[in-house]
Amino acid sequence: METRITKLLGIEYPIIQGGMAWVAEYHLAAAVSEAGGLGLIGAASAPADIVRQQIREAKKLTDKPVGVNIMLLNPNAEEVARLIVEEDVKVVTTGAGNPGKFMELWKNAGVKVIPVVASVAMAKMMERAGADAVVAEGTEAGGHIGEATTMSLLPQVADAVNIPVVGAGGIADGRGFAAAIMLGAEAVQMGTVFATAKESIVHDNFKQKIFAAKDIDSEVTGRSTGHPVRSLRNKMTREYLKLEEEGASFEELEYLTLGSLRKAVVDGDVVNGTIMAGQIAGLIKEEKSCSEIIRKIMLQAEKLLKL
Ligand SMILES: Cc1cc2nc3c(=O)[nH]c(=O)nc-3n(C[C@H](O)[C@H](O)[C@H](O)COP(=O)(O)O)c2cc1C
Repeated sequence: METRITKLLGIEYPIIQGGMAWVAEYHLAAAVSEAGGLGLIGAASAPADIVRQQIREAKKLTDKPVGVNIMLLNPNAEEVARLIVEEDVKVVTTGAGNPGKFMELWKNAGVKVIPVVASVAMAKMMERAGADAVVAEGTEAGGHIGEATTMSLLPQVADAVNIPVVGAGGIADGRGFAAAIMLGAEAVQMGTVFATAKESIVHDNFKQKIFAAKDIDSEVTGRSTGHPVRSLRNKMTREYLKLEEEGASFEELEYLTLGSLRKAVVDGDVVNGTIMAGQIAGLIKEEKSCSEIIRKIMLQAEKLLKL
């Protein structure tokens, strides 16, 4: 299936694996790219040297393009922005902020820039700043989120910009993929389903929580601080929400979640850790390889889109 995104990125299938803090490391990113999608290494708050090492390891596993996701508010952003060019990374996706100040650096080096947005206004701003495409991410998604749903955000962003749009949030099978295409997307980005992939190094406890999740098992913490995050309900989210209700300070809330994603992803502490995952977790029932995930989605979607 060819779209402006497959041509822009030089990939076979219009499927991007979201950059995910602690989760999106080189094994996963390389497996997705090798399977014909675009794998991303999630730089999150990792030191620049670790990100550099991750990029080099990914390149040993695949000749296909692998991108990097930068969270622009993190202290490492400046350094990671530069090493993207030094390491000849072809695609960068950005979250949490405006990539404007790095645009010239990246564009001069031929890096394709794809910011993640949660509103039409941000999408237009990114287009004006020179972005090559945007990911319109609905509130169903796992991780840091906006308020609009994928269903309503996607067609509005697709109408508002001329650059291609990638749909994200709540997609994990061919039906979701086909729906996103019908809403104006030219590719999809998925996070939760790839976190459970065979090649994902996420602790098995984390994966099992996703496989066992029902449709309404995710919860949003951090609305009171202006930094909402979607994860699966557990002791940590219950304590967090209780503190929020009691009007706890930003510092108190931050303390509770300090290192909590790492706790769940790396240590498998799914009681006190943050099990970041989206509403679509309820649809994901078993571990599959990245290539199985992508093949199944494309087969189902192609049938539906031909109807
Ligand atoms: C565990 C986890 C960590 C994430 N971390 C990041 C991140 O560091 N940067 C980012 O831009 N998006 C992050 N996301 C969002 C994903 O990249 C992706 O856009 C989202 O998961 C898509 O929605 P879905 O979960 O419904 O598939 C994260 C998502 C998950 C599940």
